[in-house]
Amino acid sequence: MINAMPDNDAFWDFYWETRLLPMENLGKRAAILAVSELIRSQAPQAGRALRLLELGCGEGQVIGTLLDAHDQWCSLPASLGVDLKAPSLARCRKDYPGLRCIQGDFTDPTLLAGLGKFDVVLLVNALHEVFSAGFSPERNEIDVPAAKLRVTEALGGAAGCLEAGGWLVLFDGLEPPGDPHRRLRIRFRSSLARENFEIFAQQYHPFRITYRQATDPHCIELSQRDFTRYITKSIFLGKGLWKTERFESYQYFTEAEYRAAFAHQGLEITHLHTLTMNEEKWRRLVEIDTPGFRFPQEHILILARPAQDRLEVQFY
Ligand SMILES: C[S@@+](CC[C@H](N)C(=O)[O-])C[C@H]1O[C@@H](n2cnc3c(N)ncnc32)[C@H](O)[C@@H]1O
Repeated sequence: MINAMPDNDAFWDFYWETRLLPMENLGKRAAILAVSELIRSQAPQAGRALRLLELGCGEGQVIGTLLDAHDQWCSLPASLGVDLKAPSLARCRKDYPGLRCIQGDFTDPTLLAGLGKFDVVLLVNALHEVFSAGFSPERNEIDVPAAKLRVTEALGGAAGCLEAGGWLVLFDGLEPPGDPHRRLRIRFRSSLARENFEIFAQQYHPFRITYRQATDPHCIELSQRDFTRYITKSIFLGKGLWKTERFESYQYFTEAEYRAAFAHQGLEITHLHTLTMNEEKWRRLVEIDTPGFRFPQEHILILARPAQDRLEVQFY
């Protein structure tokens, strides 16, 4: 059906607006829109159908949706999703018939070596799980240097799957800039929000959360870093997803660290965009009392390619 439709930006804006409506996760939407634009700008010059690889594809919503939309430019049988979890892959196969999926660990170089090369490699909300897997029971928190190394190596593995001239697309959490220890005071808008913060502080697994109760029972003081950890998890508190979300730190790299890690892998960043995903929802829970503090830009979208394939591409 899409082939019969006009192929211009207005068409694609309308298509994605309706297609992504049921997708609550705004991050996925941002990644899908950016990759759609990338495919549309690059595929006509490629002279063949593009091969997509998603590492940590989960149920396939990102890669599957993109392949559905761009079947005239992408090869379904030559594309691939990789994930650790069999139930997620079973759902992926059901929802996106024809998409090849394999169960495995994308941090395993042997596995990656057997996958072949791809024109677009996607890492969407996946590397923070690699970071979080660096939890050290002895320290009772993530061993940060070791976990960052694992992330950098995984990024290198993903880059190794790129065809010459291919693109790496990363969407994930972001450690905001500035002094992470700087303290701020926040005010909860309801007793429920205050109680949920307590659950967060007690159950968040990757790091210990510390804060000081203010005289006002609805106010606390905490570090910028712990505030970001809290606010990015706040939408899951009191919901079923908290059971898994409590084990994952979205934050691992600052923008500067992402830039350094990409450069280290010989990747040239052509597009980098930082985003705030859920500010509206956060404002309903909490307000920031300390002047000069804002809700953080806590996600990042990066498009990059091997440095020798320099190309000017404009997004947004
Ligand atoms: C938050 S989900 C995102 C799924 C998908 N990218 C999306 O945005 O819809 C992260 C996925 O990465 C997978 N994952 C994490 N570490 C992995 C690893 N080392 N190897 C393979 N899959 C991994 C998890 O099983 C999970 O399905």
